[in-house]
Amino acid sequence: MFDKKSVSDVNVRNQTVLVRVDYNVPMKDGIVTDDLRIRASIPTIELLEKKGARRIILISHLGRPKGQKVPELSLAPVAEKLKDLLPDKKVFFVSDVSGPDVEEAVENLPVGGILLLENLRFFPGEEANSTDFAREIAESTHADLFVQDGFAVVHRAHASTDAITKELPSVAGLLLEKEVTALKAITEKPEHPFIVVIGGAKVDDKQPLIDKFAKIADKIVVGGKIAADGYTSPLDTVYVAEDFREGTEGEDAGKKLDIGPISDEKICNMCQNAKTVLWNGLLGLAEKPEFAISSTDLAQTLGRAPDLTSVICGGDTTGFVENLQKKEPDLQYSLISTGGGAALELLSGVELPGIEALEDK
Ligand code: 3PG
Repeated sequence: MFDKKSVSDVNVRNQTVLVRVDYNVPMKDGIVTDDLRIRASIPTIELLEKKGARRIILISHLGRPKGQKVPELSLAPVAEKLKDLLPDKKVFFVSDVSGPDVEEAVENLPVGGILLLENLRFFPGEEANSTDFAREIAESTHADLFVQDGFAVVHRAHASTDAITKELPSVAGLLLEKEVTALKAITEKPEHPFIVVIGGAKVDDKQPLIDKFAKIADKIVVGGKIAADGYTSPLDTVYVAEDFREGTEGEDAGKKLDIGPISDEKICNMCQNAKTVLWNGLLGLAEKPEFAISSTDLAQTLGRAPDLTSVICGGDTTGFVENLQKKEPDLQYSLISTGGGAALELLSGVELPGIEALEDK
């Protein structure tokens, strides 16, 4: 199922390991508001430490600064969050990705220390997939090995997902391996009945997923704004929500902002009897509690079905499910994916450059 060499397969003792993580996390006023992606990177960091890596250097992007230094998109606050999550470890940050400051920070890094470099996308070489840029990072960090663990960014052919793999031996991290294995399992051999629940607003983003799973799933359920806007399908495996909860006040008046009780109940019943459910996209405007009813019902149904393989993907959906889990910790899911576009592309059957570039097993 996963045919790339992983961090579990290689010796890292006394090595300096460069790890590509995806710390492209939501922030408000310099504070990380959703740390799923940061928490998800910890198993690889811990495994590297356990296996005796000398130094761990983390690289990531944040937002889309387009080759410019944009202070609000510095990864410095993310380093603070990482320190909170790893209170027993020595975590450092340096505000560059190559050159003398990085070399000095690497040299001064204590054994077992973790160093996060600045936002890769402050430099044009990142998105240009520049060999020179990748080489500068590899040389300044004195890395012996590259580990790709930024699952959410492997659909981009950038210097830190592609060019860097020509400079260093390159293997997958645990998060990448876990996500790819779980997502491929549901496309290649899902247990039936298999239901795919699609919500959200942008039909163009979701149509490839509907097309792909029309041949694989027993039922595709469409809710969210897509359904409210009148989505139709000629396929009898596609069920589009049939009733809606409407806004009553102000600018919401008369707008279909959540699916209605009939559709809500039908979808939850289908999922209760399923063996596998993939859910991508909220069923209503869930940022407003009065329109979060169907998404809450579905999240509770999936989270309380012990024999169900449930895969949640898409940033809005995973954020919603994680917030609900904080209030209702009994809710459990098989995979809450960190990948937005990457997960959708993988599920749609597209080969992802950041995975292809890694060494085969
Ligand atoms: C994401 O959040 O989907 C990834 O970090 C990729 O970000 P991008 O869409 O800006 O390339």
